[in-house]
Amino acid sequence: MRIHELAKKLGLDSKELLIKLKDLNFSVKNHMSSVDNETAEIIIHEIEAIKKKEIEGNVIEVDFPITLKDLAVKLNKKSSELIAELMEQKKFFTLNQNIDKEMALTIAYSYKVTLKQKLSQEEEIQQVESKNLQKRAPIVTFMGHIDHGKTSILDYIRKSKIADKETGGITQHIGAYQVVSEKGEITFLDTPGHETFTAMRARGADITDIVVIVIAADDGVKPQTIEAIDHAKAAGGPIIVAINKIDKANANVDMVKQQLSKVDLVPEDWGGKTTTVGVSAITGQGIDELLDLIIIHAEMLELKADYERPATGVIVESRLCKGKGALASIIVKEGTLNIGDWCVCGNFLGKIKAMHDDLGGMVKSAGPSFPVEILGLNGIPNPGEPLWVVTNEKSAKVIVGKRIENSKNEKFAPAEHIKLEDLFANAKEEKTIQLKVVLKADVGGTLEAVESALKNINSQEVELVIVHKGVGEVNSSDILLAEVTDSIVVGFKVEINVQVRELSRRKGIETRSYQIVYELIDDVKAALEGLLAPQVKRTFVGRAIVKTIFKLSKSGIIAGCIVDKGKVVRGSICELSRNNEVIFKSKVITLKRFKEEVKEVIEGMECGVGIGYNKLEENDVIDIFHEEIITRRLK
Ligand code: GTP
Ligand code: MG
Repeated sequence: MRIHELAKKLGLDSKELLIKLKDLNFSVKNHMSSVDNETAEIIIHEIEAIKKKEIEGNVIEVDFPITLKDLAVKLNKKSSELIAELMEQKKFFTLNQNIDKEMALTIAYSYKVTLKQKLSQEEEIQQVESKNLQKRAPIVTFMGHIDHGKTSILDYIRKSKIADKETGGITQHIGAYQVVSEKGEITFLDTPGHETFTAMRARGADITDIVVIVIAADDGVKPQTIEAIDHAKAAGGPIIVAINKIDKANANVDMVKQQLSKVDLVPEDWGGKTTTVGVSAITGQGIDELLDLIIIHAEMLELKADYERPATGVIVESRLCKGKGALASIIVKEGTLNIGDWCVCGNFLGKIKAMHDDLGGMVKSAGPSFPVEILGLNGIPNPGEPLWVVTNEKSAKVIVGKRIENSKNEKFAPAEHIKLEDLFANAKEEKTIQLKVVLKADVGGTLEAVESALKNINSQEVELVIVHKGVGEVNSSDILLAEVTDSIVVGFKVEINVQVRELSRRKGIETRSYQIVYELIDDVKAALEGLLAPQVKRTFVGRAIVKTIFKLSKSGIIAGCIVDKGKVVRGSICELSRNNEVIFKSKVITLKRFKEEVKEVIEGMECGVGIGYNKLEENDVIDIFHEEIITRRLK
């Protein structure tokens, strides 16, 4: 092949090609020189690789869709040149017309340029890397049954730790507090209730590092305690149990420990792994020990943050204050928030005008884990909403403008969550497959009966996990727990009221209720069957023997074969063997009789077979199979 022919094939000038060949140490005289086929192939390969590199290296950021005029500017070409080029392809565009992304990419490619979608300012902020990590305070949440003393313990801690300060312990409610114990700082999230806790997690505002479950020693583990424990377990962080009200005459710490053992939280002094501590919010007994335990757990977590990057935070509470505007309590997650910073939060934005700590004191800046109340947002964001600092007012407006626009255009689509009927599709190979269930029943007896019936259909390959079980109606907190744990919700002889149904529909959570045990068991069985890894049945269809090899530029390497046994079917599974050893598994991608693409070729006939393998050799054997997936039944 002559060099000028080769150049044409590569879409290059002969001169350009000659220069490149010189660089590659190919000795070629001029454009009329010829090279043998093998050399030509090597040259094509090398030049294509160089072209690819050139194009990859030359990246220009644009916003799609792009008008022809703007594309011309970006490519530093005349618009008329692009119009002419498109006209050659019988495509007619005017200057201000948007060209679709694919076409824009193709045009740019012909000028050795790769176009890349410009990141939105929002994406840019989110991609800020955290470097220079330093220790931060743990964020602790108290949860437990009503009246077991969560608020009292927090109050005691705050009073004992802030009493010496000049404000004299007059506290302001901002939903989160920071105390400084002798061993370090701790941030407390004010007992949000486990529903809010999980709702925040569902929004991605997973700010709690450690959960303290509060149980009154005179009352013991209650249904809400169990709910709180299950929500805390689902969050995955460490759990400390504070057994409160030990000052009371009827306090029974051992009873609580025994109850804890039954819910898989065996206390350390009973040979288990759960840290427990007896406390009294009235006398203060055990409180220092509780703080020490929190610090020890925090140290094991090695909590760190970057104090220098632009701040991010999470809304804890927000309200409107007459005369001041929107007040929002936040906990800073990363970076340091400063007065004067511009930030975005949900569909709101603003410049931080003032900041107060939990004692009402003015602060100028707030670092990671620090709770502050901020003034300056132009609206009241929801708890759990993330807050971001942006470079200036303009970016804040652009980002929020886009968000508002998007939320208008957004069609409502519930998030993808697990469904009984399509568990099968979600099943991954190898891993043990789990079906997680939040289970509610009318009375304790039936709950246990249903649970043991469900556990009985466990198989070796599928694990049934009860994330939470309880007596009573299915409530919104069950739906939220199912959302964060990707469970389904099953109610037995219990109501699911309209609001809860609506919530589960909006969240895309599968929620079913049953009256008869067998119906429930049958449905779950059916789902588990779907979950079982499918068994594949294979049947031999035919065998082809490779006689010659063709190289086609478009479809790669084609094997000229003779069908030795059975038939070759396009699209079917195949195995390539050489010297009785399988060396490649694929599909029959192309199948040709002479020049025509065909569906199948029978025994004794010749055909061209493409299987996407370019090291085919004469006498290679291609075996064709049919595969069928068999559904398995549980015993
Ligand atoms: P909710 O926020 O309503 O869920 O309750 P809570 O868990 O915050 O309980 P709270 O702190 O409001 O305490 C409930 C009652 O128990 C109050 O009357 C407290 O005074 C009392 N109490 C709390 N802790 C103790 C304690 O250690 N000892 C005694 N004797 N009483 C306590
Ligand atoms: Mg309370």
